[in-house]
Amino acid sequence: MSKTKLKPDQLRSHRWFGVSDMRSFLHRQRVQQMGFERDEFIGKPVIGIINTWSELSTCHIHLRERAEAVKRGVFQSGGFPAELPALSVSEPLVKPTTMLYRNALALEVEELIRSHPVDGVVLMGGCDKSTPGLIMGALSADVPAIFFPAGAMTNGDFRGQKIGAGTHTRKFWDDKKAGLLSEDDWVELETEMTRSIGTCNTMGTASTMTSIADAMGLSIPGGSSILAVQSAHSRLAHKSGVRIVDMVWEDLKISKIVTAASVRNGMVADMALGGSTNAAIHLVAMAGRNNIEIDLKDFDAVSKKVPVLANLLPSGEHLMEDFAKAGGLKALLTRLTSELDLTCLTITGKTLGEEIERVEVYDDDVIRPIDKPVTDKGTLSALFGNLAPNGAVIKASAASPELLNHTGPAVVFETVSDMYARIHDPELDVSADSVLVLRNGGPQGGPGMPEWGNLPVPEKLLKQGVRDMVRVSDARMSGTHFGTCVLHVSPESFIGGPLALVQEGDMITLNEPEGILNLEVSEEELELRRANWIAPDQPYKRGYISLYAERVTQADKGCDFDFLEAGPPTPEPKIY
Ligand code: FES
Repeated sequence: MSKTKLKPDQLRSHRWFGVSDMRSFLHRQRVQQMGFERDEFIGKPVIGIINTWSELSTCHIHLRERAEAVKRGVFQSGGFPAELPALSVSEPLVKPTTMLYRNALALEVEELIRSHPVDGVVLMGGCDKSTPGLIMGALSADVPAIFFPAGAMTNGDFRGQKIGAGTHTRKFWDDKKAGLLSEDDWVELETEMTRSIGTCNTMGTASTMTSIADAMGLSIPGGSSILAVQSAHSRLAHKSGVRIVDMVWEDLKISKIVTAASVRNGMVADMALGGSTNAAIHLVAMAGRNNIEIDLKDFDAVSKKVPVLANLLPSGEHLMEDFAKAGGLKALLTRLTSELDLTCLTITGKTLGEEIERVEVYDDDVIRPIDKPVTDKGTLSALFGNLAPNGAVIKASAASPELLNHTGPAVVFETVSDMYARIHDPELDVSADSVLVLRNGGPQGGPGMPEWGNLPVPEKLLKQGVRDMVRVSDARMSGTHFGTCVLHVSPESFIGGPLALVQEGDMITLNEPEGILNLEVSEEELELRRANWIAPDQPYKRGYISLYAERVTQADKGCDFDFLEAGPPTPEPKIY
């Protein structure tokens, strides 16, 4: 308690519970209605446990129990916990895409905090968009906050082969389409791929974002590498509850943890992990909530300096359980000290440097030394050119090296439905050299930028042994996937970006080493096409999706809502 700054009457919750007026009488009376004594909550830090648990949120099903462990910690530390359920953006079951709801979660979290007598929060999430959504909302409300990661699942296993959630789904599906896997095999695989509670066991978007949050100092250090089934995971929840109460007394707000330097630390970790391309959207949006501007060139610059060291699927061979045994994120960070800002503050009140002192790597194959990286290439490359004036990304470490410098004729699909209607047609004019182009998968066109960017390889090519092709879209791709997929093309086709002008047979050049994505068509011809382009109709005329399509920013800007990006602080609610 030596760092204590606040007094009880300076707590945010004091305005609800500590004042002597008629309204406060009502507030205190109603909490006692729930069975609590006055001295359990008056003058105590009230901790909101923002929980993205739901019975259709497969990766978060254990968060209900973990919330109880957080509460234990809060009580032990002298706080008053209150669980606040929030939108659960379950990646497998929410359609058309959870990305459509990340900003809704962020908005809900911000307003949950603002409207309630909450002094600090523990943010419980992990499945893909839940991590950025929770952190974005907490940053806008700006109270002390700890991110509690849901934890990854155990290794998957299929007939002795280590398999990863997501990564192997597409691989085995392609094998099935090529006639290499029977229907019975497929059913057996379904039961063996995800064998425990927790988030995906690969370095997909979930582990990418929980690890980035951890590297930025937002979790109990190293917590992102604890598996969901471990007893240590319950203890992590307890520790988070204990610590958040002290953070309130110390007035250690989330805006003091998320700085330009800690955001860059997040990027460094992302690159060394072989993280998901989705990080290039989420981190921009998270940083933006604290007035920190980053862009694709920043990611590219870090990617060129930091090789992939974590030998994890889809860039490498192992899974999160192996990563945990090798020492996890903290061990990885010890190999990146020359690139990290070790003076950054973490939620413990100590610096990142202090937190990783005396940490060791236990397996050099899983966490490679800097001179023996998994790939020489960085994880993520930014691409620019006349096809993506504001940028696009490719996960070079999960692509086929021989396709990273490639020119081929475009095969164009207008929408995802058009693509699924024709992609496996034996008459489709496509070869292994073709570049598959998908339009209308962007922030407004999707809407919500679904993970359509890993277009399937046409069946007739699969049967010829083709397993990868160059694909270009304004959509996203699952962090668990592999393939030479150019994603997030900005501006998107739906609003008339150059992707809208591509015609069948146009030559497209991907030159990843030079960072180029070009449509080999003259500027005069493109001008002509632009003049004749007709904007597609937006079918969503009402409700949340119409609001989303109207106010979402482009991929290079983080796909936040323009009215939620950082601005002057929103006033505290009036309590009369
Ligand atoms: Fe939830 Fe992968 S589907 S973490």
